[in-house]
Amino acid sequence: MRLLITGGAGFIGSHIAEAALAKGWTVGVLDNLSTGRRENVPPSATFLHSDIRNKAEVEAAFREFRPTVVSHQAAQASVAISVREPQLDAEINILGSLNIMQASVAHNVQRLVFASTGGAIYGEVPDGTRASISTAPVPVSPYACSKFATEKYLECFRTEHHLKPTILRYANVYGPRQDPHGEAGVVAIFCNRMLAGEAIRINARRSIGDAGCVRDYVYIDDVARANIAALEGLIPDPILNVGTGRETTTQELAECLQKELGSRVPVTFSERRAGDVERSLLDADRMAELLGAPTDVHAGLAKTAAWFKAQITH
Ligand SMILES: NC(=O)c1ccc[n+]([C@@H]2O[C@H](COP(=O)([O-])OP(=O)(O)OC[C@H]3O[C@@H](n4cnc5c(N)ncnc54)[C@H](O)[C@@H]3O)[C@@H](O)[C@H]2O)c1
Repeated sequence: MRLLITGGAGFIGSHIAEAALAKGWTVGVLDNLSTGRRENVPPSATFLHSDIRNKAEVEAAFREFRPTVVSHQAAQASVAISVREPQLDAEINILGSLNIMQASVAHNVQRLVFASTGGAIYGEVPDGTRASISTAPVPVSPYACSKFATEKYLECFRTEHHLKPTILRYANVYGPRQDPHGEAGVVAIFCNRMLAGEAIRINARRSIGDAGCVRDYVYIDDVARANIAALEGLIPDPILNVGTGRETTTQELAECLQKELGSRVPVTFSERRAGDVERSLLDADRMAELLGAPTDVHAGLAKTAAWFKAQITH
């Protein structure tokens, strides 16, 4: 298997690279290092410094690496940036993705896995319910629109070009190597601040002082595992939710991480952040059926906290 991972220098892509190398696959990473880091790319992977927006660069990378399967993770991945710069978001997430699709067709790629978003695509998920793949998407940000548009293009390519795409709709992914300096990634941000002895802030779900928004936090190893299974053809469904189906509030997350890190930093409460979905939760039963039970959130948070702590002490 020759796997090309776009965005393989980023958080999720670099874990997919490690999982694929552990299986003995040959791995190539295509990345422009805009948010990813060269040191995230495992030494035994081939690194192709290319921008997915540049059709000629993408074509050259495919010609050089000759992938048999592709995991497409590269993206403008920030909802906030997509609101400020929707053109930039569309150029990378839609036009860039089209370059990857066309190159995959031209080079007879057997399978193409696409990183979509379960956290953003379903919008607000009402109390007592979970969003399943039959729930109609309600993309409320340019980022969610660009991911949904790409899903639709993939459907066209499936029919027109016999490309075999698998769409993975990730919940909120957390784990080692997540960037603590971004605007999202609350687990990484909390770990970093707790280890620095700095106060953490819980943004309200509705009013100041509540337990914060509800999310479905999925551990990075489960996301990498879902990608590998899809690339191996073990996921027959065209779209799969990748989550835990368990709801966690920001406060529960903070308490768990304080305990794991032995931290007592002050917790402050602020008002609702504009644009935040109050509650997001996926129906991930099908994933559990296909891949086994996901990592328990407390166990995943313990591993993540230990990793961030080790970065400080090394
Ligand atoms: N982290 C999450 O919770 C989450 C949730 C849902 C979906 N996703 C999706 O998963 C994928 C990976 O996200 P991540 O959290 O690892 O983010 P990340 O920012 O760590 O990784 C994205 C990678 O893509 C690269 N990249 C960006 N623009 C590029 C371009 N024009 N050309 C080539 N490379 C480019 C970046 O340098 C980076 O290495 C993204 O598609 C994201 O939208 C992430």
